[in-house]
Amino acid sequence: MTLQDKVAIVTGAGGGLGRSHALFLARHGARVVVMDLGEGADAVAREVEAAGGQAMAVRASVTDEAQVATMVKDVMAQWGRIDILINNAGILRDKTFAKMDLADFRLVMDVHLMGSVICTKAVWDIMREQNHGRIVMTTSSSGLFGNFGQANYGAAKMALVGFMQTLSLEGAKHDIKVNCLAPTAATQMTEGLMPEQALAALKTEAVSEGLLALVRDDAPTRAILCAGAGHFERAYVTLTPGAFVGAGPQAAEGVIASWDAISDRSADTVPEAGRAQGQQELQAAFAAAAVGKG
Ligand SMILES: NC(=O)c1ccc[n+]([C@@H]2O[C@H](COP(=O)([O-])OP(=O)(O)OC[C@H]3O[C@@H](n4cnc5c(N)ncnc54)[C@H](O)[C@@H]3O)[C@@H](O)[C@H]2O)c1
Repeated sequence: MTLQDKVAIVTGAGGGLGRSHALFLARHGARVVVMDLGEGADAVAREVEAAGGQAMAVRASVTDEAQVATMVKDVMAQWGRIDILINNAGILRDKTFAKMDLADFRLVMDVHLMGSVICTKAVWDIMREQNHGRIVMTTSSSGLFGNFGQANYGAAKMALVGFMQTLSLEGAKHDIKVNCLAPTAATQMTEGLMPEQALAALKTEAVSEGLLALVRDDAPTRAILCAGAGHFERAYVTLTPGAFVGAGPQAAEGVIASWDAISDRSADTVPEAGRAQGQQELQAAFAAAAVGKG
């Protein structure tokens, strides 16, 4: 089994996608920590065991640093390692931005972004010392592409992409691979949002199947895997080659006049790190200066 001897933590695993992720990872041999706020954690841990797997139920909140630290300590005491962290816990507080209050905005940021940060921080040094770690952030099409009524949720979900981009760079030397999963699935979160027929096709299990590629030994890093109904895509943050318009006072008009060239995606790249943007800009500026246009 691909994940034999691995230990995985799945947050928000008391139902929905987290439950399905926990059962999936256990089926592939991992010992699974089923973490959620309430008794759902115990029920799913029993399900994992009934299916022949090993599970530990933890009732905790991803936003509570002390509870997360206790969970990690208990897992290390019982199983001695942590290989996989699936940051899956989440909530919705949908409203148009006009009607959204800041307390709800902060709450959603707190659970999705800070919850993932707190859990990741708690396992980071362990994974560095093991020279092995696989972390999955759960992002969303709402963050990647926007969704009416989900400004708070979308901001939090896109923040996780930024978190993943840098962690994948910092974790590389310790074989810590960090990826994002953008699911579409019928859960209590999406109940009533889609027609019955669509919900029937959007099984959580179909999303979980995508996890193995992201957590196995040969996993990629910095990937955004989109998954729903058995179909898989990848999303990228890209950069156009752009256009040099100069840095002087006429540049503002130049940006407007060159909008189509700046926007041209035919030679897009996926930069390996943020510095690629600055390098591209300087290269264009120096090239223009060399021919006397700078
Ligand atoms: N279902 C979809 O189509 C969809 C689409 C995009 C992203 N997502 C994301 O997938 C993840 C799972 O969502 P789901 O659809 O299974 O929803 P869900 O509501 O069924 O599951 C979320 C789980 O997270 C738990 N949770 C909430 N706050 C928590 C906290 N502070 N600490 C620990 N656990 C907490 C809940 O108790 C629940 O069991 C979420 O991050 C969600 O944003 C889902």
